Amino acid sequence: MSSQDLPGQPHIAYRGNELFSEEMRLSDLAKQHGTPLFVYSKSAMLSALAAYQRGFAGRKVQICYALKANPALGVIQVFAQAGCGFDIVSGGDMDRVLAAGGQADKIIFSGVGKTRAEMRRALAAGVGCFNVESEAELEVLSDVALSMGLRAPVSIRVNPNVDPQTHPYISTGLKSSKFGVAHERVVPTYQRAAKLAGVRVVGIDCHIGSQITQEEPYLDAIDRMLDLVEAIEAAGIPIQHIDFGGGLGINYNGDTPPSADDLWKKLLARLDTRGFGKRQLMIEPGRSLVGNAGVCVTEVLYLKPGEQKNFCVIDAAMNDLPRPALYQAFHQIVPLSPRPDTPATWDVVGPICESGDWIGHERALAVQPGDLLAVLSAGAYCMSMASNYNSRGRAAEILVDGKQSHVIRQRESIADQMRGETLPPCGRTSGSSA
Ligand code: LLP
Repeated sequence: MSSQDLPGQPHIAYRGNELFSEEMRLSDLAKQHGTPLFVYSKSAMLSALAAYQRGFAGRKVQICYALKANPALGVIQVFAQAGCGFDIVSGGDMDRVLAAGGQADKIIFSGVGKTRAEMRRALAAGVGCFNVESEAELEVLSDVALSMGLRAPVSIRVNPNVDPQTHPYISTGLKSSKFGVAHERVVPTYQRAAKLAGVRVVGIDCHIGSQITQEEPYLDAIDRMLDLVEAIEAAGIPIQHIDFGGGLGINYNGDTPPSADDLWKKLLARLDTRGFGKRQLMIEPGRSLVGNAGVCVTEVLYLKPGEQKNFCVIDAAMNDLPRPALYQAFHQIVPLSPRPDTPATWDVVGPICESGDWIGHERALAVQPGDLLAVLSAGAYCMSMASNYNSRGRAAEILVDGKQSHVIRQRESIADQMRGETLPPCGRTSGSSA
């Protein structure tokens, strides 16, 4: 059987005229489970993780999967079993990690607006570190921990003021962003932390943005972080671990991010040169571990050729795949069984009542109603940002493992959607005269 890989899509390939994820024919999964359907390859996730593990070979490192990229329990379990820690941003994220078998002491709690209730729960569970984003949060965390007779392990998220050269909505390390403590406030914030009875300084962290495809922003950020570590330690506050934040960008459309193993070898050389090579290191990759492991399988509902544009209406929409509408993001769209016909140019759109509901503009496709398409690179920030807009249930999710497939999330029913809603009693509204 001939196999043809799609560029940038490990573990997804045509065999003959059929698209497969690992050993599973995607059209069989669509027949069995319906569409839209997210399908993730376990071995693609593990091989993405392996690139980081190779890059860090022989070093003290904790790789913490950022579950905002894809918080499905079945995905978390893959990384927990591979020894990963987790980067979380809410109490809900923490519950997911614990439910999927992750260890509390390998959790990093990030986020700019943790509530007291979330802090209390995370302290009770024994999370490994709170990445604190402001002086105000530091004081509150110290109070909460003291009220429980505990000291919270903290790292201050520094804002290194580095331009990651990515989409402005996913760029987080610039001075103008809401994240982290400004460079010039970092040492005073650590000095404050060292005096607070309810916190214990354990590390430093930064995160400059997501979908970064160049090396320079990382190299700049690492230098700035190390300058800060030197200044903090000169003030008498030891830093045990250095956390470099999120991971690399992925190939959506011919993007050429550095590979994790290459980049980390360079970054580690920089750490060695500056005498920090033996420190405990942490990273929080999300997208690069799951993005290209996943596809969204969707059916063509209608073709609407027009004078100015041709529309190909599919059964997946911006509620399932929000990245094009939010960031004008590009996802490749390919047929599950390519037709030999000459392609036409289509705007691939969903059924939602908004012009912003598009998945791909001007795509060359030979399609007919009833055909199945795969939207690629859909493993990260798709289901995690999916909504019920237009009362659409969220899609089912499948984890493929070689010749086996497992439903890791059932398709959401309308009963699931309406659970928790109630109708107020009917009758005259008080105060109305009609
Ligand atoms: N750590 C922190 C503190 C973060 O804020 C993020 C992502 C990560 C780690 C993981 O970064 P990654 O390895 O995935 O690049 N919804 C957007 C992406 C938002 C990313 C937010 N922070 C998208 O669909 O492109």
